[in-house]
Amino acid sequence: MKEVATTDTVISVRRLGKTYASGFQALRGVDLDIRRGEIFALLGPNGAGKTTLISVICGIVNASEGSVLADGHDIVRDYRAARSAIGLVPQELSTDAFESVWDTVKFSRGLFGKPPDAAHLEKVLKDLSLWDKRAARIRTLSGGMKRRVMIAKALSHEPTILFLDEPTAGVDVELRRDMWAMVRGLRERGVTIILTTHYIEEAEEMADRIGVISKGEIVLVEDKAVLMRKLGKKQLSLHLQSPLTAIPAGLAGQNLELSADGLELLYTFDAQGEGTGIAGLLKRLGEQGIDFKDLRTQESSLEEIFVSLVHGADRRPPSAANSAPAGLANRAEPVAEERRG
Ligand SMILES: Nc1ncnc2c1ncn2[C@@H]1O[C@H](COP(=O)(O)OP(=O)(O)OP(=O)(O)O)[C@@H](O)[C@H]1O
Ligand SMILES: [Mg+2]
Repeated sequence: MKEVATTDTVISVRRLGKTYASGFQALRGVDLDIRRGEIFALLGPNGAGKTTLISVICGIVNASEGSVLADGHDIVRDYRAARSAIGLVPQELSTDAFESVWDTVKFSRGLFGKPPDAAHLEKVLKDLSLWDKRAARIRTLSGGMKRRVMIAKALSHEPTILFLDEPTAGVDVELRRDMWAMVRGLRERGVTIILTTHYIEEAEEMADRIGVISKGEIVLVEDKAVLMRKLGKKQLSLHLQSPLTAIPAGLAGQNLELSADGLELLYTFDAQGEGTGIAGLLKRLGEQGIDFKDLRTQESSLEEIFVSLVHGADRRPPSAANSAPAGLANRAEPVAEERRG
């Protein structure tokens, strides 16, 4: 049963709230639309609610309020159809240690009621460099290989939406690169990808759009490029011919900083602002007789943007009463409550 949703929206989350049995409010009024075919990166500090949000969309945790449509299907009323469109690579690795790679992946496909398709599973395992290990028992694999098995399981039933909850946490550089290539390959085939990550460079490298969640609320959703342009500050650094002991009075109020050795002047400006003020600054430097031998500009990274956003959220007055202690990074229990049978 298809529900109304704009054609390019593949997941639509409305006024979603989750209060755990402990009384802890992990999600508050989350509205989020995921576009078909995009790579969406969800960023947020430990305990922000990323896994909870994903778990609700995937039907592992019940929402307390609000609704979710996945591929047009209500995740509660039309659970099976919604779930069959979705593949999930969970944050916590859990597999049947004594089963072989092949059997595990085959079983996962069967769970979704899909007919056996050895060719598809072979391709999945080959793409993930697991083909040589197909007969190996899971417990004999390395941590990185186990993570690949989780991905193979999630892809076994050919989902059109793939959730990756911190897919590259604790994996080596090579596997991370492989993972990125795989994700791009899936997107080329039209799969929508939602990933959470703590590696800002991963979001910077991979994502089309970025969402930031903090304390159960979505604080920002933006095209990556727009985000980096909009919030990005630029910095001009000037390497001086001879050191200064202080910023000259004639340059006061110019947003300037002097390095400790007095050899570098840093000028911070808004890359989107009207005029950078650089021309005026250079003119004034000339008038003051300050020579420089080199200059360069740098843009702030997504990491700085992210930190300032999450800190900004911290500084906001608490919008709703919340019984949780301030240290949200201290997770009380794993997400185990309320699993569907
Ligand atoms: N089953 C549960 N019962 C009670 N509280 C829970 C449960 N699962 C999660 N929480 C709490 O909900 C909040 C959000 O947890 P969640 O796992 O969604 O965070 P996260 O953003 O995925 O964090 P991380 O980056 O550490 O994976 C945390 O404060 C956590 O302690
Ligand atoms: Mg998590």
